[in-house]
Amino acid sequence: MTDIALDRWPDGFIWGSATAAAQIEGAAHEDGKEDSIWDHFARVPGAVANGDTPEIAVDHYHRMPADVALMKGLGLDSYRFSTSWARVKPGDRHVNAAGLDFYSRLVDELLDAGILPWLTLYHWDLPQALEERGGWANRDTAYRFRDYAEAVYDALGDRVTHWTTFNEPLCSSLIAYGAGEHAPGRTDGRAALAAVHHQHLAHGLAIQSLRERSGAAAGDAEAADLRFGITLNLTNAVPNDPADPVDLEAARRIDALWNRMFVEPVLLGRYPEDLLVDVAGLGLSEVIEDGDLELIAQPIDFIGVNHYHDDNVSGHPQPDAPGGLQPTDRPKGSPFPGSEHVSFPPRPLPRTAMDWEVNPDGLRSLLVRLGRDYPTLPPLYITENGACYDDELSPDGRVHDTERASYIRAHIAAVGDAIAEGADVRGYFVWSLLDNFEWAWGYNKRFGIIRVDYETQERTVKDSGLEYAAIIERAHAAT
Ligand code: NOJ
Repeated sequence: MTDIALDRWPDGFIWGSATAAAQIEGAAHEDGKEDSIWDHFARVPGAVANGDTPEIAVDHYHRMPADVALMKGLGLDSYRFSTSWARVKPGDRHVNAAGLDFYSRLVDELLDAGILPWLTLYHWDLPQALEERGGWANRDTAYRFRDYAEAVYDALGDRVTHWTTFNEPLCSSLIAYGAGEHAPGRTDGRAALAAVHHQHLAHGLAIQSLRERSGAAAGDAEAADLRFGITLNLTNAVPNDPADPVDLEAARRIDALWNRMFVEPVLLGRYPEDLLVDVAGLGLSEVIEDGDLELIAQPIDFIGVNHYHDDNVSGHPQPDAPGGLQPTDRPKGSPFPGSEHVSFPPRPLPRTAMDWEVNPDGLRSLLVRLGRDYPTLPPLYITENGACYDDELSPDGRVHDTERASYIRAHIAAVGDAIAEGADVRGYFVWSLLDNFEWAWGYNKRFGIIRVDYETQERTVKDSGLEYAAIIERAHAAT
């Protein structure tokens, strides 16, 4: 593993950690909150491992002040969290003052601790009531999202400066509506592409409205110290054999569907031509209305990049893995033309407990490539990076998660290398602050730098957390 390349990070570089409402809060039906699609989906037999649900999660809703104190102890500059739509507007009907109050108290607690609140409006937990009206396949949901965003902004806009519309829309569209592995568990390619477009539209509508509300003219957000952006999970789609045209073509397809379908509408106001050909017949063009793409391409102040691993792509079926050995954060068996020929052969790299490959240099090359491919790219923040391992509590009461610690160290070094090569990266958030509800994997998979005992809810800072705190301290001391 490489060592941290940079002693001196760019001025104002933000060190943080991230979570999401449905993964940590619990209190799934308290203080007026109603079902999100994840509460509902978790009750479908077989949908989530071990029948786990977000009902209690890590009880952050009741332990928030203590959790903020842990963040302060780690020396975090910023905490990235999401608000739950189904808590703020249960059933998407009325604004729920008690729900908003939780986030208001969280924001105050963070500010008192000197921690910058970094708010995400949508981390996958649509109110179930909206799903029953078609969910993201229904264009109206984009307008409902704008209303919800306005309600959150009106309550917190006096204190929160960093606003993210969506987290990983690839997952909440293609995996949720196409591959069926995430809530709401639909397997309909047309619905998945409609969901992509409607989430883009919702992003544009919300940014436009929040900027107007804030009084900050587009492009002048800096003056107002406000930042609006989106978080995308981006990958390098690496052709397994770069000399094989079949692999090259498969990698192009994956790059179009997983990366460019998300970056280009938001940044350039267009869908990639080759993607439109690839998905012809699945109705994407039919859901795009006049003016949508201009609206979607609102000026933004940052792109959040979530990156855990690259994808090694082949156009040949893999003998041992029909349909391809697919990483679990990608749309497995997605019903798109051509996807049946795409496979993901394992490379000789170490792998985490999610079976994701460990290759920090992929993060470096992704960040450098984005700047090269998109001259109008806004500043980047790594809004998620981290690793799942099967931790054990040692007899000394500690968690010696050396693999996670080296994963984090090596990826931070890769970010430093990318900056040295000219990438404009302004912050890094480790996923995750706490062990939590890992979606369809339930509580089986631990990503936290703080261990949670799910019986007692006791928190223990893992060695990776201690090491991350030391990295932050060293970076602060050098600037
Ligand atoms: C990305 C998602 O945003 C987050 O919710 C998830 O837990 C991590 N990846 C790990 O899978």
